Amino acid sequence: MSEWKTICRVDDIPVLGSRRVARAQGMDVAVFRNDQDQVFALLDRCPHKGGPLSQGIVFGTSVACPLHNWTIGLNDGCAKAPDEGCTQRFAVKVDAGIVHLNAQELATLALDMKPPTAGPHPNPPPKGEGESHTA
Ligand code: FES
Repeated sequence: MSEWKTICRVDDIPVLGSRRVARAQGMDVAVFRNDQDQVFALLDRCPHKGGPLSQGIVFGTSVACPLHNWTIGLNDGCAKAPDEGCTQRFAVKVDAGIVHLNAQELATLALDMKPPTAGPHPNPPPKGEGESHTA
């Protein structure tokens, strides 16, 4: 039997926008709402270079990634051709205007995915010290 976790009301998600849901482990999940009040959930990580899909623009049943404008399907998390790749999708249940996500999926899916790193290391080791740390 699936256990569903209550997230928010549909009305708490901006139309054509999203809301981020933090997890105990792993990256956030982005919960999207389109202009038909359909709700979708994807890992908040574009399959291209990891852009934050939660900051994209929703249209129809897709979201445009804010970084390089790839179109990602909200039903399957996959990029539209000619682009390729998919991000993790999560099951959504809407009941009486309340959005629920599957608790087991939240706890287990895509835990190994990391936010993208860009540019120089945020905390480079001091000069002369290596990067390896031993206990
Ligand atoms: S990171 Fe999303 S289109 Fe490049």
